[in-house]
Amino acid sequence: MPNEYSKANRRYWDGLVPVHFDSNFYDVASFKAGESTLRPTELKEIGDVSGRSLLHLMCHFGLDTLSWARLGARVTGADFSGPAINAARRLAEDCDIEALFIESDTYDLSSRLDDQFDIVFTSYGVLFWLPDVVRWANIVAKFLRPGGLFYIVEFHPIQGIFEQRNEDSELVVSRPYFTPDEPLRIEEDGSYAGRDTQLEHRLTYSWPHPLGEVVTALIDAGLRIEFLHEFPFTVEEFFPSCVASSEESFRLAKHDGSVPLLYSIKATKPL
Ligand SMILES: C[S@@+](CC[C@H](N)C(=O)[O-])C[C@H]1O[C@@H](n2cnc3c(N)ncnc32)[C@H](O)[C@@H]1O
Repeated sequence: MPNEYSKANRRYWDGLVPVHFDSNFYDVASFKAGESTLRPTELKEIGDVSGRSLLHLMCHFGLDTLSWARLGARVTGADFSGPAINAARRLAEDCDIEALFIESDTYDLSSRLDDQFDIVFTSYGVLFWLPDVVRWANIVAKFLRPGGLFYIVEFHPIQGIFEQRNEDSELVVSRPYFTPDEPLRIEEDGSYAGRDTQLEHRLTYSWPHPLGEVVTALIDAGLRIEFLHEFPFTVEEFFPSCVASSEESFRLAKHDGSVPLLYSIKATKPL
């Protein structure tokens, strides 16, 4: 990824780590008390991980990685943010959980890590930060052992095209579905875990990826798609009129059930 984009994005994510760490959204205190941060979707769709090696790509500060470890997986987490990896290592130590965390851009991970894993996992808000899904899919395939399983649960690219100005307004198309030639350049405060946060580094570059591009990239990387699921609920209040449908999921107040908000893909690397 061009340096300018990667640098801006890393500065943004580095700045978000302390904010997220102290946020209600991530609720580190409950995690420390033994709670899992994994959601019903990935828990059900991945199944038993005990005794299996698991690589978590773009792991942020490691709550999900460490939650998989509590379920018996031997975990490695990777993220390009130094503060995120430091926070993840501290959390692992505080909670006495065995885990390896690696600070690396996803595209450089092959030069830092040589293992192959039973499971490669990544979730909620990752592909948008990567310019090239073909390269990404090849990296996923490289880190899987033959017979290993890849799983992603991600915000649906259809949801990403909409904006809603306020609770009473309609959803309007405001971003492209297809990957544009130039990245989206977004400069704004706040994040999903703290809408009011003032950020020192607010500039980011991102790339929407259509679902067909993601699936095709995984197939071309040699993986066998087991399923592609689409869901009418999500895990963040993306739109002002989102309504909580359970403790951890949100649905559209209007058009509920008509717009896909999340998708998941399970794929295997043939033996
Ligand atoms: C939205 S967060 C993932 C959230 C995660 N599912 C969670 O809730 O903890 C995206 C993560 O991707 C990382 N990231 C963004 N671009 C990256 C890149 N090129 N290589 C590695 N990590 C990257 C960021 O540092 C951030 O931790």
